[in-house]
Amino acid sequence: MHGLYEIVSWSLAGIVLLLLLLIVYASVRNGISPMPTSRPVRRMVMREIGRLPNRGHIVEAGSGFGTLALNLTRRFPLCKVTGVENSLIPLLSSRLLASANRMPRSRLSFRRGDLFAYEYENADLVVCYLHPAAMRRLGPILRERVADGTRVVSVFFAFDDWEPDTIAVCGDLYRTKVYTYTVRLPLEHPVDIRV
Ligand SMILES: C[S@@+](CC[C@H](N)C(=O)[O-])C[C@H]1O[C@@H](n2cnc3c(N)ncnc32)[C@H](O)[C@@H]1O
Repeated sequence: MHGLYEIVSWSLAGIVLLLLLLIVYASVRNGISPMPTSRPVRRMVMREIGRLPNRGHIVEAGSGFGTLALNLTRRFPLCKVTGVENSLIPLLSSRLLASANRMPRSRLSFRRGDLFAYEYENADLVVCYLHPAAMRRLGPILRERVADGTRVVSVFFAFDDWEPDTIAVCGDLYRTKVYTYTVRLPLEHPVDIRV
């Protein structure tokens, strides 16, 4: 009996260690851990998104454990939310979270993949909480792939060369900033305004 208890304990410890190692490996590769946005920041993100007119399809680039995506789905019942995440354990946890909360896949889904390779064409709004290098890489990708007028909401980090529409400061310990942008694409056939 004692032997069985030891085998079970060691097996559980091994599984937990393996899961942690998987998370650490993905965090090192991505340059960021799957740390979720805190509750006050989530509230601020909801408030900022609530002010935006067109948010039919919200894509969360780097959805971590899925808490923000779940909140978005609940808060905006007419929207569809897609989370994109490449770290396996957070991704599986977010899918479990969605099922446990009985969220239909038509409203909330999580895709395994690289956020830099996601198509974004159908996104009305992109939400992210990444890191400066990821923001520098994501900016031109979004400009290439989204439709004119698409909104972007970024937690904590700004795009270097984009002018934000709004910057909201959260009352949390870090005074976290939430940036809102509108993607404006250059006209394909500029109108000739000479008279
Ligand atoms: C700070 S967490 C934010 C999680 C979630 N958005 C939130 O606010 O609660 C950043 C997430 O982005 C994910 N991530 C970073 N780079 C990624 C990439 N290239 N492709 C997919 N996910 C990525 C990380 O794995 C992590 O879960």
